[in-house]
Amino acid sequence: MVNTNRQLHLGAMLSGVGIAPNEWQSPGIPGDASVNIDWYIENARQAEAAKFDHVFIVDSPYITPDTAPHYLNRLEPLTLLSALAVATSKIGLAGTLTTSFWEPYNVARQFASLDLISKGRAGWNVVTTGLEGAARNYGRDEHFPHQERYRRAAEFLNVVKGLWDSYEDDAFPRDKARGIFLDKSKQHKLSHRGEFFSVAGPLNIQRSRQGQPVIFQAGESSEGRAFGAAVAEGIYSHAESFEHAKEYYDDVKGRANALGRNPDHIVILPGLFPIIDDTDEAAEARQEAQIGKLDLQKVLVQLGRPFNYHDFSQYELDAPFPSVEHLSLNSYKGNAERIIRIAASEKLTLRETAWRFATRRLPFAGTAVTVADEIQRWFEGGACDGFSLHVSNPVEFSRFIKEVVPILQDRGVFRHEYEHDTLRGHLGLPFPANRYSAAQIAAE
Ligand SMILES: Cc1cc2nc3c(=O)[nH]c(=O)nc-3n(C[C@H](O)[C@H](O)[C@H](O)COP(=O)(O)O)c2cc1C
Repeated sequence: MVNTNRQLHLGAMLSGVGIAPNEWQSPGIPGDASVNIDWYIENARQAEAAKFDHVFIVDSPYITPDTAPHYLNRLEPLTLLSALAVATSKIGLAGTLTTSFWEPYNVARQFASLDLISKGRAGWNVVTTGLEGAARNYGRDEHFPHQERYRRAAEFLNVVKGLWDSYEDDAFPRDKARGIFLDKSKQHKLSHRGEFFSVAGPLNIQRSRQGQPVIFQAGESSEGRAFGAAVAEGIYSHAESFEHAKEYYDDVKGRANALGRNPDHIVILPGLFPIIDDTDEAAEARQEAQIGKLDLQKVLVQLGRPFNYHDFSQYELDAPFPSVEHLSLNSYKGNAERIIRIAASEKLTLRETAWRFATRRLPFAGTAVTVADEIQRWFEGGACDGFSLHVSNPVEFSRFIKEVVPILQDRGVFRHEYEHDTLRGHLGLPFPANRYSAAQIAAE
């Protein structure tokens, strides 16, 4: 059931020179945007002035010469977000970090530090990494099998959250007169021994004013959805159509409900790639022109990415989409499976499949009113709790902020002012009590 007092949530996915192959050529996008801290600061400040909930930095530790421009040459998310933390004061700061190639102790420290530097505005997008090649950057010949990745992610996150509770919120009296810096009874070891990790703890950093960083997730396969439903507080999703978004939303919220979680405590944000113009026809013409400029070879590379950068140029373009089921199992599984399913059900050729998935013909092209109407329809129709806006082209971002956001505000769908200082506050998420303080209170 849809809660009628809900407010729309907006994130800004700061994507530098962009993820479509030719986006970087748009006038107004600096060629070095993905490695230019001034570009990020300027866009984060604009998102904050427009009262967005958060900015989000995607990441992936593997590239090829044909990888999309934004991924080819870019800043590392946590370093970047630390810089944004001191250049902004209200907006949330979320970034991706993989559970497949790191140690939980490091990750717990890094995000806890970002959470303190930003005064309670940090969020972690927990991913397992879809690309096989990443393993070879971390001393492994092969990536972990898909199911093992998610088992490892679950244990990883459990350890990180345990470490984040190492200190109760009043652990540091810092009483100079009595010489008491720490109340030792409020420091807790984790003593974790599991299938993948062995971590003694405690972590050497206190909690922030939002308790713990917000946990985001973006899995799409059945395993990914189950993980998101169990642990996520925010979810980034693909949204091809209203129906696709609604199916995902109902499925994940239903799974969360079945696990005894409050579904309102998971904020689901499909990606939003708007094209805004003075008339619907002009926006649609611009969308078609952008697609028309794409080069088929690049489109084929883009199609190959969810299949571990499989080389689709080896097949006959006008034959039915090839049989690549085996490649979907250990890559971006959910996305790859969706492409295979739709290509089969719509009887698409390889050429048609490439254009269908590598180009974005989304229902968010039109005048500001058309785009605002569609956003509201998805939100009120129970297909999402908000959107994660792709930010690369300054013209599109500025039109969204100046024209679409005020419409949503006038309609009472989106906030005029921030009511909170933390990311949890913006997203309407509960404060997570420290587990040891909570156990103590329960025992009393
Ligand atoms: C909006 C959005 C953002 C994502 N960001 C990242 C990211 O930054 N890094 C990453 O490795 N995967 C990212 N993903 C991919 C997912 O985390 C996940 O790996 C992918 O959907 C495959 O999951 P599956 O194996 O459960 O299907 C993103 C997905 C979506 C929809």
